[in-house]
Amino acid sequence: MKPFAIKEDIFWIGDVDYSSRDFHGYSRSPMGTTYNAYLIKDEKNVVFDSVKAEAADTMLCRLARSIEPQKVDYLVVNHVELDHSGALPRLVEACKPEKIFCSTMGLKSMQGHFDTSGWPVQAVKNGETISIGKRSITFIEARMLHWPDSMFSYIPEEKLLISNDAFGQNIATSERFFDEIDRDIMLHAMKEYYHNIVQPYAPQVLKVLEEVGKLGLDIEMLAPDHGLIYRRKEDVAFALDCYKNFALQPWKKKALIVYDTMWHSTEKMAEAIAEGLVAAGVPTRLMCMKANHHSAVMTELADCGALIVGSPTHNNGIMPAMADVLTYMKGLRPQNKLGAAFGSFGWSGESVKVLQEWLTAMGMEQPVPPVKCQFVPKHETFSQCYALGEALGAALTARCEKA
Ligand SMILES: Cc1cc2nc3c(=O)[nH]c(=O)nc-3n(C[C@H](O)[C@H](O)[C@H](O)COP(=O)(O)O)c2cc1C
Ligand SMILES: [Fe+2]
Ligand SMILES: [Fe+2]
Repeated sequence: MKPFAIKEDIFWIGDVDYSSRDFHGYSRSPMGTTYNAYLIKDEKNVVFDSVKAEAADTMLCRLARSIEPQKVDYLVVNHVELDHSGALPRLVEACKPEKIFCSTMGLKSMQGHFDTSGWPVQAVKNGETISIGKRSITFIEARMLHWPDSMFSYIPEEKLLISNDAFGQNIATSERFFDEIDRDIMLHAMKEYYHNIVQPYAPQVLKVLEEVGKLGLDIEMLAPDHGLIYRRKEDVAFALDCYKNFALQPWKKKALIVYDTMWHSTEKMAEAIAEGLVAAGVPTRLMCMKANHHSAVMTELADCGALIVGSPTHNNGIMPAMADVLTYMKGLRPQNKLGAAFGSFGWSGESVKVLQEWLTAMGMEQPVPPVKCQFVPKHETFSQCYALGEALGAALTARCEKA
């Protein structure tokens, strides 16, 4: 397990997880993932972040092949979540560092995860700079991007920003640089990561981007803790632009129909609604919750300005998979979407009302009344569904033109 030089005397010493498809228990990672940690050799040798506990041996092996671990002077812990700190106790034991730097909020999270007695932990303030020889490190707080303790490390002499979780992507590859992989694949990976992990903190993203602008940080290399490294200025600009755009979530003329069904009545209604939307000029994607994970729904929703949700009534409520996706979605706080609801029922028919309540709770305006159908839909229901699609498509088009 060798280190990989990303610049002179700067090494990637992370772990590539080719087989994982489950990212932290809530999101799928269809392309695997990568945990990045970095080493800078200077008068003071510094390791930035670490990897999950299971990958400690891999990281320590890469480290030992670039430097004797005892010669590491400083550890920087940008974020204490276990994917970046699980291997920290092993790293501390191997390096016996002179100092361990973290944010002020990081002190608490470090104590909450590890027995830190005897660890030389030192909290740094936002904007604080330390010298490590030819180079220096400026710490930038990225509070709630995405944990209270999150921070970035900037090395001005190298124009290098180590951004921890921000700008990450879940992808496992033998390449280390963003420009070595097809741009469309990378953009998809960035979207999937942002909209499943970072999205609730959109205001903090905008604040940090503003801060980076205000500090006039010249960034030539952007090194996140997941996925590939942006090493060209144009790719760094692309990543910053993407994040601004992701955070602003502008209105988009595309619709997503998310539904579940037992006997396919609700599914047939979904198809008729889609036809109406398409007729109104709105590209539409259908996702049945039997065939899609909630994290794939969020990635798709990122490109949509309308969300139409459907469920049959099941035991006086909605289908469990719909409750799953709506619970997940609400927590991720999507913005700028119109909503609509539909569903089949047998007798009591509560599902549509429950779906409408979810849409309201997510702040989604519903300009078109819902469609409910008793048992199997017939011609009249299909007409109503088609009309719902057309009317919602027109409302979305108007909203996009106004924006
Ligand atoms: C297990 C089960 C529970 C149901 N519970 C209700 C209910 O509480 N209220 C109701 O109106 N219909 C209920 N229904 C009827 C369904 O909503 C109805 O069959 C509907 O047409 C199914 O739509 P689908 O084909 O999209 O699954 C239930 C059906 C099943 C199979
Ligand atoms: Fe994290
Ligand atoms: Fe992470």
